[in-house]
Amino acid sequence: MDAKTTIIADAEVTARVEALIERMSLAEKIGQLTQIGGADWVRGPKPEEIIRKGGAGSVLWLNDTQKFNALQKIAVEESPSKIPLLFALDVIHGYRTIFPVPLAMAASWDPVVVEQAQAVAAREARAAGLHWTFGPMLDIARDARWGRIVEGAGEDPCLGAAMAAAQVRGFQGEYLGAPDRVIACAKHFAGYGASDGGRDYDPVYLPEGQLRNVYFPPFEAAVKAGVGTFMSAYMDLNDVPATGNRWLLRDILRDEWGFQGFVVSDAFAVASLVTQGFARDGRDAAGRALRAGVDMDMASSTYLEHLAGLVEDGTLKMAEIDAAVRRILAIKVRLGLFEQPYTDEAKLAQVLAQPEHRQAARRAAQRSMVLLRNEGQLLPLAKNFRHVAVIGPLADSKEATEGSWMVFGHTPAAVTVLDGIRAKLPDAQVEYAPGPEIQRDIPSFFDTMNPNFKAVTQPPDAAEAAFQTAIATARRAEVIVMVLGENANMAGEAASRASLDLPGRQEELLRAVMALGKPVVLVLLNGRPLSINWAAENVPAIIEAWEPGTEGGHAVADILFGDANPGGKLPVAFPRQGSHAPLYYARNLTHSPEGSQMYNPRYWDGLPAPLYPFGFGLSYTTFSITDLKVSAAQVKVGDSVTVTASVTNTGSVAGDEVVQLYIHQRFGSDSRPMRELKGFERLTLNPGESRTVTFELGPEQLKYWSTNAGEWVQDATVIDLWVGSDSLATLHADLVVVR
Ligand code: GLC
Repeated sequence: MDAKTTIIADAEVTARVEALIERMSLAEKIGQLTQIGGADWVRGPKPEEIIRKGGAGSVLWLNDTQKFNALQKIAVEESPSKIPLLFALDVIHGYRTIFPVPLAMAASWDPVVVEQAQAVAAREARAAGLHWTFGPMLDIARDARWGRIVEGAGEDPCLGAAMAAAQVRGFQGEYLGAPDRVIACAKHFAGYGASDGGRDYDPVYLPEGQLRNVYFPPFEAAVKAGVGTFMSAYMDLNDVPATGNRWLLRDILRDEWGFQGFVVSDAFAVASLVTQGFARDGRDAAGRALRAGVDMDMASSTYLEHLAGLVEDGTLKMAEIDAAVRRILAIKVRLGLFEQPYTDEAKLAQVLAQPEHRQAARRAAQRSMVLLRNEGQLLPLAKNFRHVAVIGPLADSKEATEGSWMVFGHTPAAVTVLDGIRAKLPDAQVEYAPGPEIQRDIPSFFDTMNPNFKAVTQPPDAAEAAFQTAIATARRAEVIVMVLGENANMAGEAASRASLDLPGRQEELLRAVMALGKPVVLVLLNGRPLSINWAAENVPAIIEAWEPGTEGGHAVADILFGDANPGGKLPVAFPRQGSHAPLYYARNLTHSPEGSQMYNPRYWDGLPAPLYPFGFGLSYTTFSITDLKVSAAQVKVGDSVTVTASVTNTGSVAGDEVVQLYIHQRFGSDSRPMRELKGFERLTLNPGESRTVTFELGPEQLKYWSTNAGEWVQDATVIDLWVGSDSLATLHADLVVVR
């Protein structure tokens, strides 16, 4: 079966949808508004039974091509409406070839590599029979305690918007329904990353200015990129649950942004409107969620149980049901599901065999890694070491390497850091010792649902023995690679934590290994910033490898031994301790700014300056950024200038620099952040090579939602601007903006 290769014209989509609506009963329409779980752990009637009755239009939490086709056959041949199903899954950083987690891919500051990654994920997922992914996750996160920071693009709206558009393009291709692509889903709308205390699911309180200037831009970028669906978030936003929030889902998303796709709730979130004290009962929840703008109920069956009654008693109009159904049917028509409802079961094997998928994953992992320290240029390591020790509980962990949100299990093909180093040095003796195991203090409810999950049960004496074995192993080696960080279940959903320290006895082990006086490299595998304060002062070389995916071990070895030069930059600041969060660079100045006479340390028990700032990352070479120029010293509100700077590779090897443009508005309708990222470009330069980077600065970059004025404004003001290699950039110019 050849993939559908032609876009279906809007007029034809509309005509076909209207024809379908015409002949559907109310029950059939409500079935289309219902998504059911296909996993074994889902309680209640079997999917086959629900589908046969026309009680579902989509299935999630199923990853089985044969079963997709079996359920599709029931929908297409036996259900009352004969309308095909949408199959959906959380493919957020790869389907079978796993890419670095989204936070890592954001650290590449390379939209092209991110688009390529999601295109591979889409190709594999579609070949498996999936039509729709619950990604990209677009929640701005400024609190590293929040476990889901791993799924997004970090703390900044400019970087986040660029990553949002790149992921939508990657997942969906040129148009909705494109062959070998899937429908994307911008989630979780909106503000979820600002949960109180970084505690997952906790309420969020954000003023409209913060929502519009910081948390909305990635979502609006996704709409502009043509995203097919949105997902409403779980939590209360300013006391109104996002899933019952008409302002969010209709006034902003549809009326202001013109979003044409459909909105699905998060899992059970419609039913949870009762739990959250918003809806009286399931009936109230169903009516208010649909009215607020949630078209499809994920997994709670609240729509299935209550919408018919609400129409029959006049609470809801049939037109309101039809509007939601139209949006869902339009996506099914555009996907070509009516012509080709089934998946060729042999196709996935062919797609997975393509070597370029693994190559793309390896390259994405290389480009996402951030060099945090390289004292004495210990890195890159020579390849003639004869005896290397690889130490740490994550060094040979496929789970930690592929990272969180592996809904249906890690792939046996994952290359661990130990595998990668052994492959890189086939003739050397590469010894491995895990040291004491690590685990969450409180297990995750996802672990209890994961058949592959193995709880850690290492007794203290065994842990101590493992500790001593690791030291002895290190003592025998010429160089030691420590692989420390977090397990895959320590970040992600329901994985918030109060501390950002290395879990367990990892730091103790690191200190003991450092005391041996041998060269040590620290490789971090983690899904959030970590407060590695001691390591930052005492370990000469530190690489942030995040959760690098199936090819992660090869990519780490490429970086360690110089076959790739790290060029990633932090998409989020690293706090010195969890209690400093939320911590972000784009803060407003105060009456006692740092560096002023009035300055007063914000805590008397330790300065909250980040361990590593937003945008930070080193290289095996060095760069100079000079010659900052603005095309005019003064510009009218509404007009633009170009900002240029020259970047030179002043070192001895080729490498990448991410040149960043930051601004600060000195005065205006509102106080504005002391710095805001407004442009970036990652470029590769050979030794001695120079390049000019150019940024546009105009109303698009300078306007903001003014709390004071209650509208979008661009002020007449003076703008400070900096261009540099991180958010502490010093190369400065200013620009006068006049009416
Ligand atoms: C989860 C998550 C959401 C995911 C959905 C379906 O609870 O909040 O991100 O897409 O359920 O798995």
